[in-house]
Amino acid sequence: MLTLGIVTISDRASSGVYDDRSGPAIRDVCSRWLATPWTDAYRLVPDEQPAIEAALRELADEVRCSLIVTTGGTGPAPRDVTPEATVAVCDRLLPGFGEAMRAESLKSVPTAILSRQIAGTRGASLIINLPGKPGAIEECLRAVWPAVPYCVELLGGPRLQFTDAAPRSHRPQST
Ligand code: MTE
Repeated sequence: MLTLGIVTISDRASSGVYDDRSGPAIRDVCSRWLATPWTDAYRLVPDEQPAIEAALRELADEVRCSLIVTTGGTGPAPRDVTPEATVAVCDRLLPGFGEAMRAESLKSVPTAILSRQIAGTRGASLIINLPGKPGAIEECLRAVWPAVPYCVELLGGPRLQFTDAAPRSHRPQST
């Protein structure tokens, strides 16, 4: 059983100016890709670093999510602080995730370079930042998904199974 953390970071969605579409997009992608039974814990927070950190700590330490995916707050605007919050709560960073997601996104949108999205680990949780655009969700997750199950296993999490719709995951063979 996988517990997936979904954190939408948006001043406007969290204050009701508009509906969050990116958080549900994460849930939708995982519904199509995950064959392992899973449940999600969803949090919607404003672009405030303490609130983002609190949500990430709670989902990692108390809810014990093996995977936490955030959306929003990764850009260069003054209130974009998701990467700072992620760095603050992570034990270790995984820079390759951000690099791979930006490289893939740059093929379709030049402004992908504006995202400072990162990933890292906190205890047994893998935390991945995604941009706030609903259209970025599947594109970015697809770029890193092949490495997600092995990373989750290395952190002590469940062995994940996938549907045929999911990008093929890679597990190194022991030699
Ligand atoms: N990545 C993808 N795949 N698709 C997008 O539309 N938008 C970019 C970038 N990355 C985008 C993307 C833009 S315009 C910005 S400003 C940054 O993500 C940061 O977005 P955020 O602050 O909503 O996280």
